Amino acid sequence: MPIPSDGHGLLAGKHGVIFGALDERSLAWQIAEACQREDATFVLSNAPVTRRFGSLEGLAEKTGSPIIYADATNDGELDALFDEVTSERGPVDFVVHSIGMGVNVRKDRPYEDLNHDWYLKTLDISAASLHRIVQAGLKQDALADGGSIVALSYIGAQRIFSKYSEMGDAKALLESIVRAFGYRLGKRGIRINSVSQSPTRTSAGSGITGFDAMFDFAEMLAPLGNADAASCADFVVTLLSDYTRMVTMQNLYHDGGFSTMGVSDHLVETLFGALGGDKGKDV
Ligand SMILES: NC(=O)c1ccc[n+]([C@@H]2O[C@H](COP(=O)([O-])OP(=O)(O)OC[C@H]3O[C@@H](n4cnc5c(N)ncnc54)[C@H](O)[C@@H]3O)[C@@H](O)[C@H]2O)c1
Repeated sequence: MPIPSDGHGLLAGKHGVIFGALDERSLAWQIAEACQREDATFVLSNAPVTRRFGSLEGLAEKTGSPIIYADATNDGELDALFDEVTSERGPVDFVVHSIGMGVNVRKDRPYEDLNHDWYLKTLDISAASLHRIVQAGLKQDALADGGSIVALSYIGAQRIFSKYSEMGDAKALLESIVRAFGYRLGKRGIRINSVSQSPTRTSAGSGITGFDAMFDFAEMLAPLGNADAASCADFVVTLLSDYTRMVTMQNLYHDGGFSTMGVSDHLVETLFGALGGDKGKDV
């Protein structure tokens, strides 16, 4: 049954911060729209530099949400963000971390020849920023007891996808930070999980060389096909809601079943077809 356009009120009365909506394709953009549908209110945030090329103002207008720009690698800006958020509304019930950038990946530097300044920047933007955000939230007394934090990850944390390169390291660190904070936040009933999402055609996604091949490969393997951004948003909403109040420290695959597959008929037939053979029929 399709989700009704006015939702189910799963997040009624909850207030949060959503980091990382750049344009309509962004996972965070879809998450914000789904949160609004489920009756949440939220503050939107992105790096100050995105004022020049992003379209966050449009989302803010559409959802009636304030924007507080902050670079997620800058502790002072994150402190100021949480200070402003709490002085307006008190501590937040949820935080969504949907931030990533592979600097060497963007500049086509192979894993064997990384620029290590860029590599550290990649780890800071894509992983340590989660630590910075949670730490700032704790310092500013901005995280409500019983709240929920979700970060977006990718299966490149567990398996090698050659073109994902340094981002695999960043996602492994991100998921480790989820576990480390999960233990520490548990005593206050605050949950933290990562959602490992299918390849999705967004600005960050399409910035990876070979993205189309990764997308098609996953699409051929996953029994349900690739999960799109809207379904990712619906899943994230459940993790922000009280229905998942005992789920924490998990990396949850939202990938149409990709992560459990080995090989599929579709993939075998396509490969043998491409190689000009007919052996696929015997498998
Ligand atoms: N698109 C995919 O295929 C895919 C798959 C799995 C996981 N993810 C993850 O989902 C998350 C969101 O990415 P997306 O695909 O929606 O792409 P996106 O480009 O729309 O979002 C990435 C966001 O990170 C923000 N950002 C970069 N540097 C920042 C900084 N210093 N401070 C604050 N924000 C900063 C960008 O401005 C952008 O809004 C990322 O963590 C990404 O790795 C994406």
